[in-house]
Amino acid sequence: MVQGFSREPGTDGPLTGIPEHGRRRVWRWAAIIALGGFLFGYDTGVISGALLYIKHDFSLNAFEQGSVVSILLVGAMLGAVTAGRMAEHLGRRKALAVEGTVFLVGTALLTTAPDYWTLIVGRLVLGLAVGAASATVPVYLSEISPKEIRGRVLTLNQLMITIGILISYFINLAFSSNGQWRGMFAVGAIPALVMVLGTLWLLPESPQWLILQGHADMARTVIASISDESRADQLIERTQRRHRVAQGGDTAGSQGWGVLRSPLVRPALVVGLTLAAMQQFGGINTIIYYAPTTIENTGLTAANSILYSVAIGVINLLMTVVAIWLVDRAGRRRLLLGSLAGMLVMLVLLGLSFVVGMNALLSLLFMVVYIAAFAVGLGPVFWVLIGELFPPAARAAGSSVSTTVNWASNFVVSLVFLPVVNAIGQGETFWVFAVVCAFGLWFVARYVPETRDRDFAQVDAALQARFNRQPQGTNPG
Ligand code: BGC
Repeated sequence: MVQGFSREPGTDGPLTGIPEHGRRRVWRWAAIIALGGFLFGYDTGVISGALLYIKHDFSLNAFEQGSVVSILLVGAMLGAVTAGRMAEHLGRRKALAVEGTVFLVGTALLTTAPDYWTLIVGRLVLGLAVGAASATVPVYLSEISPKEIRGRVLTLNQLMITIGILISYFINLAFSSNGQWRGMFAVGAIPALVMVLGTLWLLPESPQWLILQGHADMARTVIASISDESRADQLIERTQRRHRVAQGGDTAGSQGWGVLRSPLVRPALVVGLTLAAMQQFGGINTIIYYAPTTIENTGLTAANSILYSVAIGVINLLMTVVAIWLVDRAGRRRLLLGSLAGMLVMLVLLGLSFVVGMNALLSLLFMVVYIAAFAVGLGPVFWVLIGELFPPAARAAGSSVSTTVNWASNFVVSLVFLPVVNAIGQGETFWVFAVVCAFGLWFVARYVPETRDRDFAQVDAALQARFNRQPQGTNPG
């Protein structure tokens, strides 16, 4: 029996009406939490440069090289699986501190690795941290944000991912002159250390989690620090009323993924899992991870490929800034639909450019516009919705399972991309991704609700309506 979900409007305790000084404080908290996003980007990006020297130092064959890259994705899947339970048991704050520490361990292993197997273990450990943090960060960000700025705060995560990717390219360039791959990894320790210390010293626990755990007094202190005593009392009182409605109180802490079996969570689960798979099967990382190879296939010289990767990274970042500006204005649905439409058109053209052999610069242009389309919508909005769609008691579990599917899909696409290109051709492979985007357009139009400026009860009603269900005012049992 799953308890703890109430549909009484406005009672899931989102922070609303927080004054300006309080919002500034929320942004400061968010900057520390989103370091988890930065490390996600940095540690997935740094390997492309480091590998060039590692393979030489350790004489790695093609399979060994591939495994050093992709074992991180396996670790990320495992990390994402465990993250939900950890964030429920320890709380969001301690979970993030643990994840930061795992980042440090992984980084230390990689920096000092004497052989291939230590590298593999180091990348696996780093993957655990990347995956777990990627599931915890959206939940934590969502729960400290006033709903008026929640979209922007959540998009900060994707912005930090893109900054992490870009900085890793620059660090790769800086260390490449003398082949210092250990230095490339070591730099990742700095943000990890800042995240651990910042989390322990400066971050409060999520008020939402505190209330669900029965620590209303602690939640009151957190809310009062961004608002005032009376507002804090009001929010706590409303949330406690919700608890009384949800007779039996919350049981989320002990259920892990079991909480997701409730039929009432199913619509959120369908949307979360589908977007998770779609974000990867739309082909993004075939460009992010394999841009140099693909660019070489267009006929442009490989010597400039790092430069092209940097250009792609810059566009990725800039368009995410645009997304931050738009997400609380235009809303999530419009960004997703526009993004998928843009990706679809670009993938069709990109495929065509290879099949009919257009000018290489045109292929590059289509690739860049495709990245821009992803960065303004599907990239950030997936992570935004992961933090918004699930009911409070199922949020950590929902984020965990969706993130696991995202990493598993990433793994599959990265693994089969080059073999599929060899089997059916480069252009044709991009058309397969185009089909995924076409499906995505239909799916989003049909099933994804708008979440902008809505608290969970309203999000839930919109979700149920899209799945042709009646929202029920009672607690499921
Ligand atoms: C995706 C990553 C991708 C990154 C690129 C994220 O939203 O989950 O797989 O590498 O965007 O910016």
